[in-house]
Amino acid sequence: MKIVTEMTSTEIRDQFLKFFEKKEHKLVPGAPVVPFDDPTLLFTNAGMIQFKDVFLGKGTREYSRAADTQKCIRVSGKHNDLEEVGYDTYHHTFFEMLGNWSFGDYYKKEAIGWAWELLTGVWKLPKERLWATIHNDDDESYSLWKSETDIDPKHILRFGEKDNFWEMGETGPCGPCSEIHINTGDDYDNPKWVNAGAPECIELWNLVFIQYDKDEKGNLHDLPMKHIDTGMGFERMCAVLQNKKSNYDTDVFSPLIEQVVKLSGIKNDSEENKIPMRVIADHIRTLTFAIADGAVPGNEGRGYVLRRILRRAARYGRKLNLNDPFLYKLVDTLVNTMGDVFPEIRDKKNYVKKIIKAEEESFNATLDRGIELFGEIINQLEREKTKEIAGNEVFKLYDTYGFPADLTNVMAQEKGFTIDEEGFNKLMTEQKDRARNASKDKLSSINISLKDLTSFDLSDDKATAFTGYDEFKSKAKITGHKNERDTDLIILDRSPFYVEAGGQVDDIGKIQVDADLLDVVDVTRIENKTIHIVQNATEGIIAAGKTVIAEIDELRRWDIMRNHTATHFLHAALRKVLGTHVHQAGSYVGPDHLRFDFTHFAKLAAEEIRDIEALVNDELRRNYALQHHRDIPFDKAKKMGALMFFGDKYGDKVNVVQYGDFTMEFCGGTHVKNSSEIGLFKIVSESSIASGVRRIEAVTGAGVEKYIKNQLSIVKQSNERIEELFDVKKKLEKEMAELKMKDKLGQLDHILALSSKVKNIKIYKGKVIADNIDELKSFGDVLREKMESGVGVLVAQIDDKVGIVTVVSDDLIKEKKLNAGKIVGMLAKLIGGGGGGRAHLATAGGKNIEQIPAAIGKVEEVVSSLI
Ligand code: ALA
Repeated sequence: MKIVTEMTSTEIRDQFLKFFEKKEHKLVPGAPVVPFDDPTLLFTNAGMIQFKDVFLGKGTREYSRAADTQKCIRVSGKHNDLEEVGYDTYHHTFFEMLGNWSFGDYYKKEAIGWAWELLTGVWKLPKERLWATIHNDDDESYSLWKSETDIDPKHILRFGEKDNFWEMGETGPCGPCSEIHINTGDDYDNPKWVNAGAPECIELWNLVFIQYDKDEKGNLHDLPMKHIDTGMGFERMCAVLQNKKSNYDTDVFSPLIEQVVKLSGIKNDSEENKIPMRVIADHIRTLTFAIADGAVPGNEGRGYVLRRILRRAARYGRKLNLNDPFLYKLVDTLVNTMGDVFPEIRDKKNYVKKIIKAEEESFNATLDRGIELFGEIINQLEREKTKEIAGNEVFKLYDTYGFPADLTNVMAQEKGFTIDEEGFNKLMTEQKDRARNASKDKLSSINISLKDLTSFDLSDDKATAFTGYDEFKSKAKITGHKNERDTDLIILDRSPFYVEAGGQVDDIGKIQVDADLLDVVDVTRIENKTIHIVQNATEGIIAAGKTVIAEIDELRRWDIMRNHTATHFLHAALRKVLGTHVHQAGSYVGPDHLRFDFTHFAKLAAEEIRDIEALVNDELRRNYALQHHRDIPFDKAKKMGALMFFGDKYGDKVNVVQYGDFTMEFCGGTHVKNSSEIGLFKIVSESSIASGVRRIEAVTGAGVEKYIKNQLSIVKQSNERIEELFDVKKKLEKEMAELKMKDKLGQLDHILALSSKVKNIKIYKGKVIADNIDELKSFGDVLREKMESGVGVLVAQIDDKVGIVTVVSDDLIKEKKLNAGKIVGMLAKLIGGGGGGRAHLATAGGKNIEQIPAAIGKVEEVVSSLI
């Protein structure tokens, strides 16, 4: 093909946008790739997602024409490209969709004409290699292709619903479409290559003529207006315009591929090496963009999709001898090539690297053990001369070692084996909530290996019916059993025992066999059967066909149910108070407390915790009756708007748990019949468990009672301690006051030592430091006691005033008729005040501080004048 342009991918993107800007389109930012406001959609998968409301006539924009580049992830649901990625050169989990839109403005004529103008007029694509497809019934588009463009009419092909009718999902806006394909191969004039899956002939641009809204029954309703929704595959366009055979050879991907080559030291020269390099280059884009937009790898929902993608990339890395964490080292490269167009990845660069590295490290640990087990399984199958890996083995690799089934499938293919996908999916359906390690851990604790248990005769494929939504005690029949020393494993046809899933822990209880009441020490699930583990049963009493009574610990289960329902209320409250970016990242629901992990980027403020708790309690008190939608089709649950988790595949039957309009979630767990049965909900801690993931621990019902009791006993202990401390404080204060007084009384020593005499009367006088008049008075008392015979005068500056205390010994009162009151009265005059008191002790106050020395100097004179 003859096009070789010098255009970089950045220029191509810019030219697209500028072209439509000239045609009066508003250039708008794309939506985040993680649609946190739409719980029914895992990732943004088309440019029109942000305009869905406009198409349906429910929203408006200030403009009627728009163009943008939209970050898209297609890994699940209707538009799912994961399996192709890496094996061909033009499918991606993450890609950019360039689009132009008309909201009730222009329609088919302009959409077709402008597309042709950009492709052949601006970009000069060879017209003879372009093909237009239209819907079988769309004669209008056929005429428009002929009138508005100079395409060879033989290159206008008609196809059916599958190829030329576009819909975003099972319901919603949709319409016929016209696609533009390019054939870059030698046989480019041959219509047989169009829509044939040939890499030389690929779709470049889809022009959708949105005119219907599809309802749940599949009926099409005319929309109030007709719209244009187009999507161009940016990376494909770059490959065509840069004359590359593969998208991965364009400048969009080549820096990433080069970095992988550098990290691995392996050349990008054989298909064997190219596949893992493509997988890695593709997946790092999905991971970086999704994490930068707020998703985190985890066990549920989007997080689980990301975890699978990361593990797929890490696994392919091993093919290039990249055994240590390496994916995070590609983030810088990606930021360098795309950070200008999408600044969010530059802003979040370090955060993204941290998350990816931590996830790689944890995967590596399990991967090594899983690879070993995979080898054992293959060896066993080779001995047995079978070529299919059983569903339960695939499940075990998934469940215990974190191998997504598609990885196992790839590994199996390499060895010439297949996997029993149906068997695996069946197990996944039963286990839809999340992977768990329970069976292995439990069984090892009672000395039975998983191998013993999986060789258990499960040929009878009757599932154990779970009766525990409605009953705590069920009459049941033993359908299988196995004895291992003092431990018996019992399978029942029906059982109220809940086996750990979705965070909710196992039930415990008893099975009555004949007159014996056997303790069920553990339960687990193998395939679709509940295994009850009992110990020390009388030999021979457990036999298939026997009728028994299985009964769970009812009170414990009530506690569990209260906590489980409370997690749903907490989830809803978190989303209301903090925002809809909050998503469950994990949970534990036991009888004593609950734990809820969720995505959020900051420590919760005390007021936020208080608001969340208050909202949960307010809502619980609304007496919402449980609406338990059991075994309903997945798409119905989705339509109801239930919060969804990955693994609930379309067509699966699911359970939805709803309380009023406050919370509705996909959930297989057990719940209270009415929200008010929970009583109270109390958050006891909030912490961080990983970057972007917070953990709340809380209690309900009896747990709150226990919590209050604990708190009260803490309060009581504190009170006792406070009283003790108070006593100590009082004692110390007394001691301190005494010490202080002793210190102050030291001032009297020199006054006592340096007495003067007037008419044979001893005078003790001087300035002292005192805090207040009472203290000065008490100094007077002490002085009087110590001086035996004489007159004492102590003067102090108290704040900005003067205080005087005068004392006279008894002998002088009697013999010389001396009077302290009189003395102090005369001295007071000298300091501009007054005072008085009794003969032996009197006080005075005045305001002339500067007169203190003079007053002290006059004491002898005053005393003398009174004799
Ligand atoms: N919405 C159309 C698509 O995704 C353009 O292909």
